Amino acid sequence: MNILLLGSGGRENALAWKMVQSTKLDKLYVAPGNAGTHQIAENVNLSATDFPAVKQFILAKNIDMVVVGPEEPLVKGIYDYLANEPETKNIPVIGPSKEGAQLEGSKDFAKQFMMRHNIPTARYKSFTLDELEEAYCFLEELEAPYVLKADGLAAGKGVLILNNLTEAKKELKSMLGGMFGDASRTVVIEEFLSGIECSVFVLTDGDSYKILPVAKDYKRIGEGDTGLNTGGMGAVSPVSFADDVFMNKVEERIVIPTVEGLKKDNIIYKGFIFLGLIEVKGEPMVIEYNVRMGDPETEVVMLRIKSDLVELFEGVANKTLDKVALEEDDQYAVTVMLVSGGYPGDYEKNKVMTGLDEVKDSILFHAGTKLSDGNVLTSGGRVIAISSYGNTKEEALTKSYKIAEVVSFDKKYYRKDIGFDLK
Ligand code: AMP
Ligand code: GLY
Repeated sequence: MNILLLGSGGRENALAWKMVQSTKLDKLYVAPGNAGTHQIAENVNLSATDFPAVKQFILAKNIDMVVVGPEEPLVKGIYDYLANEPETKNIPVIGPSKEGAQLEGSKDFAKQFMMRHNIPTARYKSFTLDELEEAYCFLEELEAPYVLKADGLAAGKGVLILNNLTEAKKELKSMLGGMFGDASRTVVIEEFLSGIECSVFVLTDGDSYKILPVAKDYKRIGEGDTGLNTGGMGAVSPVSFADDVFMNKVEERIVIPTVEGLKKDNIIYKGFIFLGLIEVKGEPMVIEYNVRMGDPETEVVMLRIKSDLVELFEGVANKTLDKVALEEDDQYAVTVMLVSGGYPGDYEKNKVMTGLDEVKDSILFHAGTKLSDGNVLTSGGRVIAISSYGNTKEEALTKSYKIAEVVSFDKKYYRKDIGFDLK
């Protein structure tokens, strides 16, 4: 099979690493990819949101399947575009339809979906600028802290959590006034939930589903989960509190109603569902849906899948996922992200990276790197994810931290406490 993978981050490097281990794969292309995917697949200079160009490439290279890494092409409707073009209508896309992608593309849509299908989530109401007074009244009914969410995609920055009512009202007004452009013309206000979070990934063909290994990511820049939010500083899998009892609740109360709900609503969905969950007094609740794998969670989840990923994708495409086994690796997997100094604020790029060839016992997934005259240079805030296996979380972390010292570039930074809050 020839497969085209869309995307360019650590997530895509990890998906590519897993896919190239498949006996079913002939050739993997990654568009646009990065210096890490270049080592194991062929990078293609194509934008994932230029759908006509993607179609031309599929036809030119006899692509048999398209796997979509990030949310943007999904929310913009790549599934529907390729399904509606006569030449590509039979090429399977691993990713939901445009309507299904609204689970991530519109927080209001996601909340309505959860209400309709009785899926546990925080109490909420949505408002537009003409409803400002009603929105203030709703805020007054709630207790601090106040959670305000831009309805649309806002590059991970659209959620504000405020400690006092005056501040919350002020921020609400600016959001509705266009703080995040059109993404915040509608704002979801919701009750604050207190607990510990984890990420559960489901792969579905629209009828059956597989629950992938559970992971936890670390979003804040500073140790002890302090400071600004980032794209993710590390991840671990498994997650100690997500035991069998908890995961059974997740499956019964969240996974099954979600897959069934999509079917009842006639929403075409063949791809990943990412459940951002919070445990509140032992009970799982949904913080958010995403319609793709998480980053950096993929960098640990892929390590813990023993089965052939391409075979699982074939099951999704052919609606025979129930016939494909999902085998998990019992070992721990962790990833530690090296980032550019200054990130998530301003940072410098084009730093030469060294030590990459000395890595043996860990797996490097490139996130923000590029090749230039034979050198690997940094090209983003999040640079490289160092993933390792271990019989314990500590053993895996020791390996990643050793390599975090070996791989070098000017102004490198990483968190030294990944997994600190888990047993
Ligand atoms: P989201 O973009 O929806 O994932 O929100 C970003 C982060 O904000 C989440 O990972 C949570 O840490 C936090 N958050 C979102 N909604 C709530 C909520 N209702 N209660 C507490 N924290 C929340
Ligand atoms: N790690 C969270 C995300 O991918 O959105």
